[in-house]
Amino acid sequence: MKLATRTTKIAASPTLHMVATVKALKAQGETIFDFAAGEPAQHSPECVKQAALEAIQGNFTKYTAVTGIDDLKDAIIETFQRTHRLDYDRSKILVSCGAKHTLYNFTQAALEAGDEIIIPSPYWVSYPDQIALTGATSVILKTEEASHYAIDSALLDSLITPRTKAIMLNSPCNPTGSMYDQHTLECVAELALRHDLLVVSDEIYEHLVYDGHQHVSIASLGPDIAKRTLVVNGASKSYSMTGWRIGYAAGPKDLITAMGHIQSQSTSNPNSIAQKATVAALRDGQSFITNMRQELSAQRTLMVDRLNAIPGITCPMPRGAFYALPNVSALFGRRHAQGTITSPSDLAHYLLTEAKVACVAGEPFGAPEHIRLSYTPGLSVIEQGMDRLASAIQALE
Ligand SMILES: Cc1ncc(COP(=O)(O)O)c(C=O)c1O
Repeated sequence: MKLATRTTKIAASPTLHMVATVKALKAQGETIFDFAAGEPAQHSPECVKQAALEAIQGNFTKYTAVTGIDDLKDAIIETFQRTHRLDYDRSKILVSCGAKHTLYNFTQAALEAGDEIIIPSPYWVSYPDQIALTGATSVILKTEEASHYAIDSALLDSLITPRTKAIMLNSPCNPTGSMYDQHTLECVAELALRHDLLVVSDEIYEHLVYDGHQHVSIASLGPDIAKRTLVVNGASKSYSMTGWRIGYAAGPKDLITAMGHIQSQSTSNPNSIAQKATVAALRDGQSFITNMRQELSAQRTLMVDRLNAIPGITCPMPRGAFYALPNVSALFGRRHAQGTITSPSDLAHYLLTEAKVACVAGEPFGAPEHIRLSYTPGLSVIEQGMDRLASAIQALE
């Protein structure tokens, strides 16, 4: 069968591929130290489960409004008001089937062939592929490990052309764990206003920040930038609700309306029960986040310290999200019985087969010298996994 040309422009998500490989190995009885998954280990909060059970018992099991139920939109509006003093009305909110779906709706509604969108690298794997599906071009803005992956505003300015439609931000960032400070965001906002650009701000990790770092939403910097920012967020990471599939966006009414039209002709409404569960998460889940953040912070320190103790690996301390992104380029050229490590993918493959340690290679994140490890598993899994990883690296010639 001849498939549509657009299918040749994308690949299946490499992170989800690794997750599926690990699941298959575990099903065969293998013990895998799994640092590949992009989700917290905690169960979803009790208040979330309770709200879902009540939704089922109350027969809240039919189609809802395509763009989300009013109760959830109101909980989202309250959350933006509480966390960032941002004011939205319901017409500026769209609830979708996960933030990935939110972003997909955005790319389909806003981008087409001839458009350019600027993405700082390293970036979340799905951005370039979702953009490629529209025929638009991703313009990569390189950032450096040495400066905590900060955006150089002069470099950003130099990449803006008459075709540039939007700038994509992700803070805290998957995979780097970096965050943009207020000054950087002010520079980006100034450029967006000067060049009439949209900003897409993926803030899905906003609550998972450590060491007193503060998340700033670019939309909170003033009404002018708020009017041209699409803020993307969701329940998956902060409330450990990855399976429930609820994401949402707040932004300009015309864009939100168009994204809603795309959604109405593809998925219709997000799951009715999950919407009720997310209302409970947003209104009653704050102590859950506080506890999870504390646990993740200790796990982060342990993993990063252990990685930095391995000769050939250097790993900056991430400020947010739940990923370590060690630089492994010093290992390129080292050999093992089956071959030579020449890339992060080679190393990830070697670690999985030799050490039963699962991680994700950096190449599809625009990080060709790095691997990504989630520090979501508990402290003892991290200890054991890092022991194995260290031995496997030491065994390289
Ligand atoms: C940066 C970023 N944005 C969006 C998402 C999508 O999350 P979900 O579709 O589960 O809401 C993820 C998930 O890994 C992510 O890391």
